[in-house]
This record gives sequence, structure tokens and C-alpha cells, in this order.
Amino acid sequence: MTNGKSICTVCNYVYDESLGEPRQGIPSALKFDHLSADWRCPECNSAKDMFQPCSCVSLPTYEQTCVVHRKEQKNSNNDSLTASKATPVGQLVAQRPARACILESYGIDYCCGGKTTLEDACLKRGIRVEDVLEKLFVADQKEEPSSIDWTQAKLKDLVEHIVSTYHDPLRKELSRVALLSEKVARVHGDNHPEMVKVKDVFNRFKAQLELHMQKEEMVLFPGIVSTETTGNPQIFGCGGGIEHPIEVMGQEHDEAGEALCTLRQLTKDYTPPEDACGSFKVLLFSLMQIESEMHQHVHKENNILFPRALALQKPTASCR
Ligand SMILES: [Fe+2]
Ligand SMILES: [Fe+2]
Repeated sequence: MTNGKSICTVCNYVYDESLGEPRQGIPSALKFDHLSADWRCPECNSAKDMFQPCSCVSLPTYEQTCVVHRKEQKNSNNDSLTASKATPVGQLVAQRPARACILESYGIDYCCGGKTTLEDACLKRGIRVEDVLEKLFVADQKEEPSSIDWTQAKLKDLVEHIVSTYHDPLRKELSRVALLSEKVARVHGDNHPEMVKVKDVFNRFKAQLELHMQKEEMVLFPGIVSTETTGNPQIFGCGGGIEHPIEVMGQEHDEAGEALCTLRQLTKDYTPPEDACGSFKVLLFSLMQIESEMHQHVHKENNILFPRALALQKPTASCR
């Protein structure tokens, strides 16, 4: 997931390998890993181990650091890609992935709530749909390097992309953040009892998600790839079709989404309190990053992979 950028989890400064850091006499093209061990953030003086590979976490960070703009393929159907009030939010992002960060900045759920129209999603959040449409329009005008259109790519490639881009890094991140949440709960639990709840919610979220990803990788994803490759529908469990594991995975996505909402509420939108130490801030930042990655991950499954897999499936005998 590395893009040559590493972000300071304390102040959001981004070390960009393509630029180096002229203020410290660091030349361009010097990899982050090759910076000396005692190198420190030029903005807040945090140690090197407070940095993480950079990915989009919020609109400000996205706009300041990670934004990559995709040149949209010119086609005569461009009007059909224009955002409108009536378009389901999951579809908006499936058409143009860069829209995800705009919706995230308004707290609009485009993964589990992907079937909701933009107008209804805005109503639910108490925001003006016109304001969101304007931001989406601006984002649509930005040019981006070409990227894969997952609505058209082979499902085998999409599955590999999901596993390598989301599942594998998430497993590592869940373990790291679980340790961090234990530490913050232990050190700050007396003054911040909500952080003990955060630890408990996160541990349940981690356990459920690890099992969920294992089921996807061992059962559902091979079934989808096999159906695409052979053209033969797969039989799951008691003789049902692929819709059964997809339904279960969808329910588990909803549960994961609820856990993330709880974490956001407990931490007041991941806002560090006045007395937060470095570990506390890193934990909040990491939770925010996991939420953002989960939105993109679940969006690609709920709104692209699963509907496309269902479309491949011919009617099969159902459970008796
Ligand atoms: Fe997944
Ligand atoms: Fe999933």
C-alpha cells in the first residue's frame, strides 16, 4: 500500500520520498526506510517510529497529501456518471473512487449504506445535498492517473486486490492497534474510562473481522473465482447458491460498521483530549485510518464484488 509517502501520526506531516525534506538537507528520492534511525519529524519533532505508510484518512489529509487524480476515460456515456441526488452513494463511489473521500468528510456511509440515495444520506446527516454535489463535481473535474475500473475487471483480479490491499495489511494493523489500545486503556483508563470501552469494542471487532476475512478467503472468494472461471455455479453449505454466503458476509459487514460507529462515538470523532500523550494520539489516528480503509474495503465487496458475483450465478436449488 506504500506510495512513497509516510505520515507523522502525531501532526499529519507527510514525508514524500519524491521530494525529500529540503529543510533538513534530505535529498529527493531518499526512501523513508533509509532515513537515519534518529531522524525526527521536521514539524513536531516526533520520532521516526511515529510514522506510518500514508493513506487517505480524511478530506484534509487527502487533499494535502495523498490525493491522486484519475483521468476519467472519455466516453459518450459521461452524463451517466454525473453525480445526482437520486444516485445511490455506493454507485457514486463505484463510478469514481475519488468521491469516497468527499462522502467520508461528510460522514456519509457509502459501503454498508451504499444503496441509500445521496439525497436520503444527506437528509439523514442533516446536511445540504447541494453542498455535497458541488464538492463531488469539483472532485470529478480533477484529473487522476489511470486506475483499474473494478466494475469491469476480472473478479479474480478484484479478489486478489481486496486480499492484498485490504485483508493482509488489516490483519497486521488489527494486531498492532489491539496492543496500543491495551496500553492506552491501562495508562489513561482512570481519567478516560471511555478508552477502556474502546479497547473492549476494538477487541471484539478484531476477533470478528479476522474470522470474517478467513471465511471470505477460504470459502466465498474461491467460489466466486471458480464460478467466473468455469461458468459453473458453486454449491455452498446445504446446497444453496452463492447468495447465502454473500448474505452472511453482508450481515457481518453491518456488524463491523456498527462497531466502527461505536468507536467513533466513544472517541468523539477521534478527537484527542487535552492530556492525550503520543500513544493516545497514534491510537485515535490509527482507528480513524482503519475506519477509512474499512469503508473502501467493504464498499468494494458490497457494491462491486458481491453484485457482480450474484449476476454470474444461475438459479440453484435452495436449502430444504
Ligand atoms: Fe473482505
Ligand atoms: Fe468482507
